[in-house]
Amino acid sequence: MAENLNGQILIIGAGHAGGSVAALLRQYGWTGPVLLAGAESRPPYQRPPLSKGLLLGKVTLQELQLKPDNFYAERGIDLACGRQAIAIDRVARQVRFETGEPVNYDHLVIATGARLRALDVPGNALDGVMSLRTADDALKLRAAVRKGLRVAVVGGGFIGLEAAASALQAGAEVRVIERESRLMARVASRELSEFVAGHARAHGITIEMNASVCRFIGTAGQLAAVELADGRVFPCDLALVGIGVLAQQSLAESAGLACEDGILVDARAATSDVRISAIGDCSRRPVPLFERSARLESVHNAVEQAKQVAARLCGKPVTAAEAPWTWSDQFDLRLQIAGLISPTDEVVMRGDPAAGSFAIFHVSQAGVLRAVEAVNAPMDFAFARMAIGRRLQTPPARLRDPTVALKELALN
Ligand code: APR
Repeated sequence: MAENLNGQILIIGAGHAGGSVAALLRQYGWTGPVLLAGAESRPPYQRPPLSKGLLLGKVTLQELQLKPDNFYAERGIDLACGRQAIAIDRVARQVRFETGEPVNYDHLVIATGARLRALDVPGNALDGVMSLRTADDALKLRAAVRKGLRVAVVGGGFIGLEAAASALQAGAEVRVIERESRLMARVASRELSEFVAGHARAHGITIEMNASVCRFIGTAGQLAAVELADGRVFPCDLALVGIGVLAQQSLAESAGLACEDGILVDARAATSDVRISAIGDCSRRPVPLFERSARLESVHNAVEQAKQVAARLCGKPVTAAEAPWTWSDQFDLRLQIAGLISPTDEVVMRGDPAAGSFAIFHVSQAGVLRAVEAVNAPMDFAFARMAIGRRLQTPPARLRDPTVALKELALN
């Protein structure tokens, strides 16, 4: 559906997805008005470094901006920060905001991202119980962490583990409390989980697995301890809750768009209303390589879907979806994961975990490379990612053999 390139496009949500689609629309030739409205008070910024470089003081917020300050004005993108959309009227083709006039659209892009899953236990509103999603959250956390502070991190996913590593490096004492029997269970294999747990422990992080927080205990409104369901109580000064995110889909749902743990979109990021697209963390999309749908929480996904929308609206070809991928930095580890991991796939190890650089491949029963988890092995990762996209079929023994160049496998 190539639209009239002069129509008014309204983008709600100014995160990585929203900021990218605004820029790409101009790049691909959209001449009509583009309004980018975000609830946060800042222009779009990169979220992944919040739990790493920003916490460690290695990068500034200014450096994390997706685009320079003058970018939007120069391209005629009307950037409205601090504007919370509250309702979509699909008949009038209008969005209402908490403040100001309603805005009309010819095409609406929903890029509202995800919201934090709340830990619904007594004491969760005490001073010292924090979370990490926005730049403001990260600045608050950075200001609080100091040498000797006792930090309890609830949730051993990317956010929890990255923040745990950063806090430990800042001199804090850190305990990770994970509900499951292993870390990063949503995205990683058991093999990678175990390696990462060993590495974190070797750096001095205490990890409690199969552990459920039943309450935070306070003194005069200030966090003093965390209590687990098994009765153990750990004194702490700060708790960081990072137990996952949920799609921010209520606007779409109230407007009657199809949603199912994410706003449902097709392979070109169109929702059940042709005038509305949804991109990034808030959407559930087809993943053609895996013949299933998924809600992908990654920068790669945000940008890929932004490209789909901009190309579709500007009448350009929509490029084929790549293998999904994401990454995490913890201490001296760079973890990179591409593809989707399935417990029925065969696990093939290349390299030696003890050497700190290796890759874990996941091969389907039909012999197709489906996923890779690389640890400090960026070249292996790059070629494996390519090979997953090409549905490479190869005997596991060749993947395992360090004398077989992955480049040859990926490109031949
Ligand atoms: N108590 C302890 N742990 C819990 C609880 C709980 N009540 N509920 C969930 N968990 C654990 C999960 O088992 C999982 O290991 O919290 C972890 C959450 O991990 P993710 O779902 O990966 O979410 P999170 O780490 O919060 O990251 C949120 O930010 O960096 C991005 O890619 C990341 O998109 C993701 C988002």
